[in-house]
Amino acid sequence: MDRILSEEKRNEDEFELSLRPQYLKEYIGQSDVKDNIDIFIKAAKMRNEPLDHTLLYGPPGLGKTTLAFIIANELGSDIKTASGPAIEKTGDLAAILSTIEPGDVLFIDEIHRMPRVVEEVLYSAMEDFTLDIIIGNDGSSRSIKIDLPPFTLVGATTRVGDLSSPLRDRFGIISKLDYYSIEDLCNIIKRTADVFEVEIQEDAALELAKRSRGTPRIANRLLKRVRDFALVKASGNIDIDITKDSLIKLKVDSSGLDDTDHNLLKSIIYKFNGGPVGIDALAASIGEEATTIEDVYEPYLLQNGFLKRTNRGRVVTQKAYEHLGIDYQKSIYD
Ligand code: ADE
Repeated sequence: MDRILSEEKRNEDEFELSLRPQYLKEYIGQSDVKDNIDIFIKAAKMRNEPLDHTLLYGPPGLGKTTLAFIIANELGSDIKTASGPAIEKTGDLAAILSTIEPGDVLFIDEIHRMPRVVEEVLYSAMEDFTLDIIIGNDGSSRSIKIDLPPFTLVGATTRVGDLSSPLRDRFGIISKLDYYSIEDLCNIIKRTADVFEVEIQEDAALELAKRSRGTPRIANRLLKRVRDFALVKASGNIDIDITKDSLIKLKVDSSGLDDTDHNLLKSIIYKFNGGPVGIDALAASIGEEATTIEDVYEPYLLQNGFLKRTNRGRVVTQKAYEHLGIDYQKSIYD
């Protein structure tokens, strides 16, 4: 079972956390979001009030968790972390809320996956810092109200549309994270290389940035693997040659697409005549969960024009055929 208070997936991610920027000034990219949050944090501190509840949404790997930790640091507050699917019962949420100290940040990742009954308890906690719960069983149940200290809820989701509107409406700050520019990714890669104390040439950083699908998590993951190749196969320094060789070994193509992306696009082309195909049929044909396709793979393919969504399903575009070197036959749906 998922831990309720996941402490940010502990050891596995501890190293990852140490790579992350701790303050807004170190955070690269997302300048609109960053500038606004900077103002809201400063204003909250000047008024000596907690920051309004904040919802961060966007595709995975763009820095929602990183920003939540930065918000806590900038506020000078402690952060407690939890994950939506692990909060199964109202009692689980009550247990988390009972650990909150005044001014704390409570970070709930994947907040769209909280059960509705739990969500409803969160409404009053967010709105007037009270916990309304029913205790006891049918015959002798009664409702109790407990005051909570003022706190800031930071919610993160890849699917803002799956949030109920009462929950969405209780966030005073709603920020969307977008895919990063190549330039920002290049700077993130150079910053991480600095943390690793590994040398990276400008053209190598740029090549990695181009193949990172607009996503810092992927950029840093690729950097780590290329660093391994550079260490074992070359001098340890990362230049363009070792970068290109490593990316071939890692099966990351010139646009940053990997085996799963290729498999997905080719499945649509060969098994469904280029589309349209429904998400469930596509998921079954490549052996991935429909939600993984929708949340992880599809957004980048859509954004970059390799895939199109029509009301009859997904269609592979001419650009994707050309990228894959497959003869294009125009679909009547294209
Ligand atoms: N590492 C991962 N994401 C980052 C970002 N946005 N800025 C700086 N370093 C990062």
